[in-house]
Amino acid sequence: MTIQWFPGHMTKARRQIEDKLKLIDVVIELLDARVPLSSRNPMVDEILRGKPRMVLLNKADLADPAATAEWVRYFADQGLKALPVDAASGTGVKEILPRVKELWADKIASQLRKGINPRAVRALIVGIPNVGKSTLINQLAGKKIAATGDRPGVTKGQQWIKVGSEMDLLDTPGILWPKFEDQQVGMRLAATGAIKEELLHMDEVAFFTIKELIVHYPEALRERFGIAELPRELDEPDGIVGVMEAVGRKRGAVVSGGRIDLDKASLIIVRELRAGKLGRISLERPADFG
Ligand code: G4P
Repeated sequence: MTIQWFPGHMTKARRQIEDKLKLIDVVIELLDARVPLSSRNPMVDEILRGKPRMVLLNKADLADPAATAEWVRYFADQGLKALPVDAASGTGVKEILPRVKELWADKIASQLRKGINPRAVRALIVGIPNVGKSTLINQLAGKKIAATGDRPGVTKGQQWIKVGSEMDLLDTPGILWPKFEDQQVGMRLAATGAIKEELLHMDEVAFFTIKELIVHYPEALRERFGIAELPRELDEPDGIVGVMEAVGRKRGAVVSGGRIDLDKASLIIVRELRAGKLGRISLERPADFG
């Protein structure tokens, strides 16, 4: 469920996360591997205030592995361990517990020194809507338990999920909001499916998608839609619209008089990108951010 984020919702979401933070030792920050910074809450450092944290680059199955490797290095440079995962299939999920334990190792060692029997490390998953929080909780729990948590106004009793004997996971995630006032961030989130289709102008999202594909993945575009000639001039909208029309023609999105139904073509482009039909595609890289 996509939330309409108003200032009141953000304040409430923040308060809920702060309540959860009191209960936990380690935060697992979930980002979308295809758009790690666009899917990151702009205030995350301030909100998590020094809690030990690791980053998961989720939906790595849909992302370009080369770009994901660059992101892992980018986060390492900031002192954050980032792990690519695919919460839907479970790939990479086994690596999470050892890393969470690493983050808590000093505390465990100090407890042992004091003769205290260390308890299981308590973890919380945080991330923006649709990044895969519930899917990951279910995957870690080994069964379907997490109800949709995307309701900032709803308080529920907190419960712990046992992940083996060494980690307890809070059963409801911390819901963060994206940096949606930024146009480019909005487009990247729209293209990857973090924003409900009803709220979008799909032709604009498809236009943005085609432009990105021409620059970074021209082969994917050629192969998937059989387009021989791609425009060289990207500042001229006509060339990009021409590609959208070519997709429409190829897929029979034609209305009376032979005109291309651009809305239909736009839906085809964006849905196929999201479903991974164009291959593994990332829409941002560390170099984009200087
Ligand atoms: P949330 O709790 O953070 O809001 O996200 P949720 O787990 O509901 O996941 C959102 C969508 O993303 C779901 O698709 C889920 O299957 C998909 N997803 C989660 N993790 C992965 C992953 O690692 N790889 C892939 N390919 N998909 C993943 P959905 O139920 O089809 O929802 P929708 O996208 O149609 O809205």
